[in-house]
Amino acid sequence: MEQPLISLRADAYPASPIRKLLPYAKAAEAAGHKVFYLNIGEPDLPTPSVFIEAMRRYQAHHIAYAPSQGHPTLLQAIQSYFAKDGYSFDIQDLQVTQGATDALLFSFYVICNPGDEILTPEPFYPNYLAFTKQLDIQLVGIPTFAETGYAIPGIDVIEKRITKKTKAILIANPSNPSGRVYRDDELQRLITLAKKYNLWLIGDELYRKLTFAKHQAISFAHYQDIEDRTIIVDSVSKRYSACGARIGCILSKNKVFMQKIHRLGQSRLGVSLLDQIGASELYRLPETHIQWTRDQYFARIATVIEKLKTNPAIQFVVPEGAFYMMLQVPVKDAEAFALWLIQDYVYQGQRLLVTPGKDFYVDHTRGKQEIRIAFVLEPNAMAKAMDILLSGLKTYQSLGR
Ligand SMILES: Cc1ncc(COP(=O)(O)O)c(C=O)c1O
Repeated sequence: MEQPLISLRADAYPASPIRKLLPYAKAAEAAGHKVFYLNIGEPDLPTPSVFIEAMRRYQAHHIAYAPSQGHPTLLQAIQSYFAKDGYSFDIQDLQVTQGATDALLFSFYVICNPGDEILTPEPFYPNYLAFTKQLDIQLVGIPTFAETGYAIPGIDVIEKRITKKTKAILIANPSNPSGRVYRDDELQRLITLAKKYNLWLIGDELYRKLTFAKHQAISFAHYQDIEDRTIIVDSVSKRYSACGARIGCILSKNKVFMQKIHRLGQSRLGVSLLDQIGASELYRLPETHIQWTRDQYFARIATVIEKLKTNPAIQFVVPEGAFYMMLQVPVKDAEAFALWLIQDYVYQGQRLLVTPGKDFYVDHTRGKQEIRIAFVLEPNAMAKAMDILLSGLKTYQSLGR
């Protein structure tokens, strides 16, 4: 019998490159092998206990819908968190969302018509492509390269990509996957263009405090002359190891934008009540907790770099922030290599899952010799994972691939 049809949109919807190879990892585990998962940016660090404790303390007759803009306790906690950094937002400038994911989707929905374009440095977080596809928006890459530390290029390179349909420039700062922490002059170039072409600036800043370089990540909120076109996205997922809480937020001083965002929030009814209660305590944690988190990631990065230095054919840029790294590997097809690693290569009873690099680009000529790793295991485990990578690469090359 004929099947009812699905939409063309759903048909063209991309599979998550980060989860694509997961079934092979599960099969490897079923075969009794230990798998090191470096494919997904899901932190292994403990979620601070204040999260669960706050939920346990919460007294309620029944679990009602939380207010659609966000629970007042969480809204205040977010407001104070940003105020401590010198960024003052009214409560009306905030909207609690289901993670940064919904914050981005809501923002794209409010500022773009179907067919509009959003510029973002590539390599980029692959779900940007998925989100824009959901809304029939075109994601346009601003090319950045390892050779220049993934710096944002000159104005002329970006300007060439601006059309009548361009609505916004989106950056993840620090960047997933490149680890770049953009400098003031790079942000100034984007600001100049945003003013000239009347564009929105979206700062996906959930990794903002996770930096290891001498310079810190500067929020778009720092630049007061652009506050009418600035949208900030934040989330508890990474900074507090609370991906499963699904709590994020949008901050903007553009009143019309926020009014529309609140309407979307209303149509979603509300974000999980208890997770908001827990997340309120995360936002109130002292800076020392974030410093501790930074130190953990830094130790992992240092371990990995020591290991990778033993094979100079693998090239990389030391991350300045976030907890990812793109590796250029000396193989023809890094996707085939990543598949082989998880499917066929066993090193002392252990296997490794990484993410192929090509899906971090809209430019199909790029990323073919790259993989991305996430620093989501403790240093010893990261070291073991690198042993699998290094020996796997040697074996793969000996097969002539
Ligand atoms: C750059 C970037 N933005 C957004 C997200 C989604 O975050 P959330 O878990 O808050 O939805 C991620 C998750 O990896 C990310 O890396």
